[in-house]
Amino acid sequence: VTQKYFRYKGINFPMMLYSEQGLQEVENEFQVRDDDIFNVTYQKSGTVWMLEILSLIRSNGDPSWCRTVPNWDRGPWYETNLGLQRARGNESPRIISSHLPVQLFAKSFFQSKAKVLYTVRNPKDVLVSLHHFAQIFRPYKEPGQLDEFLEEFLKGDVPFGSWFDHVKGWLSLRGHENFFWISYEELQQDLRGSVERICRFLGRELDTQALDAVVENTSFQAMKQNKMSNFSLSPRFILDQRKSSFLRKGISGDWKNHLTTAQSEAFDRIYQEQMRGLDLTFPWD
Ligand code: PPS
Repeated sequence: VTQKYFRYKGINFPMMLYSEQGLQEVENEFQVRDDDIFNVTYQKSGTVWMLEILSLIRSNGDPSWCRTVPNWDRGPWYETNLGLQRARGNESPRIISSHLPVQLFAKSFFQSKAKVLYTVRNPKDVLVSLHHFAQIFRPYKEPGQLDEFLEEFLKGDVPFGSWFDHVKGWLSLRGHENFFWISYEELQQDLRGSVERICRFLGRELDTQALDAVVENTSFQAMKQNKMSNFSLSPRFILDQRKSSFLRKGISGDWKNHLTTAQSEAFDRIYQEQMRGLDLTFPWD
């Protein structure tokens, strides 16, 4: 079997699209600008959804940017080799996406006024989404059966490491004025109200019409139909959407269709152990 991942500071990264040098540059040299907006998530937690929301807010509800420029250019994942170049070249105010755990994030962020929006999702749904995604995303290892993949996920032996460490790390920034967090489930329950909260955090006021346009263009259906947002432009050697889609189901609680009771209970045990003592409740708790 060819090796697909390398380890950087204890975290797995796919060799395709990422490099040690790129990660070092992001961490140590990347120049964060005060008006940068970072869209941060553990993978499969709503990254492209938030990216679409931020893109539409930036355009005041006008969908033309979202319909003409691929999402990976609008809000590049700056830890990838190509994303880093793109992020450097983009005009301010930049939207930059990232799955990096907080300890590997650009150091210059912490001396800046740039903003981070962190989206979390029920980790059981993240697991199921990732299990499907790993079967179609070529840089990732074939995930095998869910049972085996579940163990790797719980141990953090997957790209970007442990979900628990990621969430605990980023949520330790709660209370900082340039940090905002929200859940995928809240976006689902109340997209409009969530967009309003996001606007307030960004200091952007949208009128009713603009707000309507943001909500309309960031629905699962609208995004699935937009070829700049549904990854149909990615080459098949990177993403092969014949078996499953990037925008797969877009619901909460799909884990119930995939995890057995025993698997779910095993998950709960680790979850409780890992999240103990955190003064936090999530919409799925
Ligand atoms: S990635 O690869 O980490 O950037 O993926 P990410 O965007 O974080 O997560 C993909 C999942 O988000 C769902 N999604 C949405 N759900 C509801 N509404 C909208 N608009 C939306 N956009 C993306 C997407 O379908 C993936 O979840 P699953 O459960 O696999 O469907």
